[in-house]
Amino acid sequence: MDGAQVHALIERCPPLDTNSVYCNLLQCQDFAETSIVAQNEQGEIVGFISGYVPPKRQRTLFIWQVALDSEYRGQGIASEMLARLFSRDNDLKYIETTISPSNTASQKLFKNFFTTHHMALETHTLFESGIHFSDDHEDEVLYRAGPAKQFAPIHAV
Ligand SMILES: CC(C)(COP(=O)(O)OP(=O)(O)OC[C@H]1O[C@@H](n2cnc3c(N)ncnc32)[C@H](O)[C@@H]1OP(=O)(O)O)[C@@H](O)C(=O)NCCC(=O)NCCS
Repeated sequence: MDGAQVHALIERCPPLDTNSVYCNLLQCQDFAETSIVAQNEQGEIVGFISGYVPPKRQRTLFIWQVALDSEYRGQGIASEMLARLFSRDNDLKYIETTISPSNTASQKLFKNFFTTHHMALETHTLFESGIHFSDDHEDEVLYRAGPAKQFAPIHAV
């Protein structure tokens, strides 16, 4: 039931790319175990992290998008959501994500998370602007970090 609200949230969170509502519905149905939402006191969805386990990298959680409504930013909520999501499955030892060079908020979020959890970080450009995006989108730089030590399980609310 969360797909439409997730779609609206991502629209409110530039520079994220919007996907189709259908894509968000599938994320909420088939990738719910590797995704997480945050709700406010009224039960509205104000945060979302989508992720999946790449078929050929079973110990890796790939984070697709992180979105938090602007009024809730700067309180550690995205970091907390990431910790809760990653702690769901102790077989997951690595996190991957891609970040554009200009997205300092996202770089800081992930770098702080990796430092806090003692996860070694490697980066390289995965999708180049001129090759994959016809120069109308920045490079997407892959961040791969791990292995993570044992995470204390946290039960999502
Ligand atoms: C990126 C985003 C999810 C961060 O959410 P958040 O809850 O504010 O992040 P946190 O409070 O957990 O902050 C994590 C770290 O990033 C830093 N940070 C957060 N926003 C920042 C900003 N705009 N500029 C610089 N640093 C920032 C915080 O200071 C914190 O570092 P600290 O622990 O040293 O203080 C949120 O800003 C957002 O939704 N942005 C729009 C969408 C987007 O760019 N998503 C990421 C790409 S997938």
